[in-house]
Amino acid sequence: MRSIRGHLLTPTSRGSWREERDAVLHVGADGRIESIGRSAGGGRHLLVPGFVDAHAHVPQHAICGVPAGRLLEWLRRLVFPREARDRGEGAERFFREALRHGTVAGAFYSSAWPESAEACRAAMERLGVRGWIGMPLMDLFTYRPDLARLPLRARTRRVIGELESVLRRDGRVRTAVTPRFALSCSDELLEAAGSFPQPVQTHISEQPDEVSAARRRGRDYLAVYERAGLVRRESIYAHGIWLTASEWTRLRRAGATVAHCPTSNLFLGSGVMDWKAAWKGHVALGTDVGAGPSLSMYDVMRASWASHLAKSGTAPSARMLLEAATVGGACAIGEPLGCLEPGRPATLQVLDRDAILAGEADSLDDLLSRIVHRGGAHAIRAVYVDGKKVKLATASGARYES
Ligand code: GUN
Ligand code: ZN
Repeated sequence: MRSIRGHLLTPTSRGSWREERDAVLHVGADGRIESIGRSAGGGRHLLVPGFVDAHAHVPQHAICGVPAGRLLEWLRRLVFPREARDRGEGAERFFREALRHGTVAGAFYSSAWPESAEACRAAMERLGVRGWIGMPLMDLFTYRPDLARLPLRARTRRVIGELESVLRRDGRVRTAVTPRFALSCSDELLEAAGSFPQPVQTHISEQPDEVSAARRRGRDYLAVYERAGLVRRESIYAHGIWLTASEWTRLRRAGATVAHCPTSNLFLGSGVMDWKAAWKGHVALGTDVGAGPSLSMYDVMRASWASHLAKSGTAPSARMLLEAATVGGACAIGEPLGCLEPGRPATLQVLDRDAILAGEADSLDDLLSRIVHRGGAHAIRAVYVDGKKVKLATASGARYES
């Protein structure tokens, strides 16, 4: 049995926080926490749950940080040509990098090629990353030349057939039915997508011109997805910046999760989501790589804090941000992560307290705030997945001086 010692900081499944200064996690052979005891002298390290990235695009890792206009222009000029070439070659690198930033699970998109979805699934399974993988379904404005040649009906049928074959590979990593967004799907494709019982992920209300285009097809943007039976528990809607009060209420009633992606929203100039409306329902955080420039959920929490403060004069608290980054995302994808409790996987980050704090923290909130605002890969000393220490990516040994 392995024991991991440190200053435990974790949300609990009852909605509170637990803090134990001298904790020891006893990990069983099955990789779960068997019990939590006390052991003096563990204060140098902070034990916090691993993050859940509720929205990111694996093939877009290669184009992170390159500006190319606003959403629709960026998709057409940069994203679609990149994804058109992608068969999942970068999947291993993406998930290693995510782990290096403390992310252990999430809801991810591959490119629209089935081989890409399979390569992502294989990399997740190899590395122990939990969650969903989805191949974006597109029968309108597809970047796949083989589909573009077919008449619309045949294209829709082909895309659904491919989804069925990807679904047959389901194991620990689950396939999410992933209509890319309303603009890339015919009503027939959305309806077929909604008939699957699997989890759902898509985009909604990211930029005003996208919203106007979607509104031509329904009472409002959400109605286009509702009509197809896509709005339910185990569905994740990314962005949601321009949602109306009625749409927020309907998402909440359906038990759907909104993935808040503030680094992406800043990078593409999309706007600032209504955090108060989101917090009344299920909210998780996403890097939205590659509109988001990094795979760091620390960057995402800080961007959320700063953008809300600048816009409205108030910001989400460190507790809220850390809950959304851990247990919020874990609930969204249906994984027992995000709380370090007996019976749950020993999947966590070990942070070097001295890399975050110069001096003492006065209270739990003070300490959580330092983690949000000063945490990052530089402070992560280890990541455990199911009780096993992950080998984190390190700098290459290439020479730079002679
Ligand atoms: N809407 C449809 N596809 C995408 C995408 O790949 N990224 C973002 N940010 N928004 C989208
Ligand atoms: Zn996205």
